[in-house]
Amino acid sequence: MTARLLDHTVVLTGATGGLGTAIASRLIEEGAEVVLTDVDEDRCAELAATLRGRTRTAVLDVSSEQDWAGLVGRLGRLDGLVNNAGVGSLGTVVDETRARWDDVIAIDQLGTWLGMKYCGPLLEDGGGAVVNIGSILGTTGGLGNSVAYAAAKGAVRSLTLNAALHWATSGVRVNAVVPGFIGTDQLHERFAGTDRHRSMLANTPMGRLGRPAEVAAAVAFLLSEDAAYTTGTELLVDGGWSAR
Ligand SMILES: NC(=O)c1ccc[n+]([C@@H]2O[C@H](COP(=O)([O-])OP(=O)(O)OC[C@H]3O[C@@H](n4cnc5c(N)ncnc54)[C@H](O)[C@@H]3O)[C@@H](O)[C@H]2O)c1
Repeated sequence: MTARLLDHTVVLTGATGGLGTAIASRLIEEGAEVVLTDVDEDRCAELAATLRGRTRTAVLDVSSEQDWAGLVGRLGRLDGLVNNAGVGSLGTVVDETRARWDDVIAIDQLGTWLGMKYCGPLLEDGGGAVVNIGSILGTTGGLGNSVAYAAAKGAVRSLTLNAALHWATSGVRVNAVVPGFIGTDQLHERFAGTDRHRSMLANTPMGRLGRPAEVAAAVAFLLSEDAAYTTGTELLVDGGWSAR
């Protein structure tokens, strides 16, 4: 594999989750130093111990401006940001609760904006790149539920386009990776054998769940110079879901 991210420092949020772990691993293979951030300090340290490469760890609640300001103050330089942290919700337009709505919007939507707001000045210094993790539930009607998640991921799409235009002439590229249903351990634990799991498979043209490594490969591409003329785009990693 070509190491396309040598000398790059990349901040990754939600690093200890199913996709975060795969993204961290791929970025390290590509030569990057990865700043592994998550809400749980112990899990960050455990992940860092399993990865062979240059890592730093930091506790970061993406919805906290204080946390972002503290992290950015310690970084020095930055070449990439992956806004990956996210939480789901299954509630429909009528049965979602206000508390759950606020939580999902704070992490998935506000957290994505805060990441770009606070990391932006460092990225501008070196001409860096942002990859926001969206979802097909934010770009389509999904399965007709997960309303708060859909709203937040829809906002991730417009935030990506808006920031891409803002930075178009400053050398900072902003793109989104839009996964379909990815078979992380967490997804299997939660949904294996359920109607929702069957529905995910039935509605995915390729007839299988995605692999975390397939999402990670898309992230690495968008962070790299191979994507030097690519900004404001969404890279679908969805097994054909959006082609239907
Ligand atoms: N797995 C899928 O099928 C799928 C599909 C589409 C999009 N996504 C998106 O991919 C991203 C990663 O998903 P995943 O499947 O790895 O989920 P996951 O639940 O395994 O990981 C999410 C991570 O985010 C962290 N997190 C939660 N709240 C946080 C906060 N306030 N601040 C910082 N970190 C926080 C969690 O600790 C966890 O490590 C999410 O944005 C998710 O919406 C996942």
